[in-house]
Amino acid sequence: MPAPGPDMAQTAPHQAWTPPRSVVLVGLMGAGKTSIGRRLASRFGLPFVDADHEIEVAAGCTIETIFEMHGEPAFRDCERRVIGRLLDRPVQVLATGGGAFIDPDTRRLVKSKAVSLWLRAELDLLAERVSRRSNRPLLKQGNPREVLARLISERYPVYAEADLVIDSLDAPAEVTVETALRALRTFFAHESEKVGT
Ligand code: S3P
Repeated sequence: MPAPGPDMAQTAPHQAWTPPRSVVLVGLMGAGKTSIGRRLASRFGLPFVDADHEIEVAAGCTIETIFEMHGEPAFRDCERRVIGRLLDRPVQVLATGGGAFIDPDTRRLVKSKAVSLWLRAELDLLAERVSRRSNRPLLKQGNPREVLARLISERYPVYAEADLVIDSLDAPAEVTVETALRALRTFFAHESEKVGT
């Protein structure tokens, strides 16, 4: 069973700038939310939290088991409650499961308490990445590539409501991290300009 608690990026070199609100990564399975989120947190010297991991800790079982035993609606309830609690914590980087931001209540909460960053990726890249793991219940409901294609058409218009969007590329993670850092700095610089006017 995974251990509870945030993953502190203690070895990070201290950075002069950290975001004033939590950064919440959204996007489809395989977009790289955990990998990019962990690296971003490390660059900021902030805690990194993975919502799926916290859901497993809270439920005392894996996400696969929650889907199997209780179904997707129960998983979504649990996800909403856990993310609600996590967003009450001090500034952090939070990676969410692919369906979290699609839930209207979770989306409202994320938008009011954090800055949301959509990691957008193309179907080929997602399909290649998800093929490395076999513990995602939704991808067992059919051909994984077809499921992902359907989710792209259903979810991309909703992810587009995120505050920021950056492309998750088939490149070293640090390339995407640099793009995310620039996007975040620009976003908050504009926000403080607006407050100042
Ligand atoms: C889901 C994505 C998964 C996990 C669950 C449902 C989804 O998280 O929350 O299997 O609805 O897209 P990842 O996006 O981290 O794989």
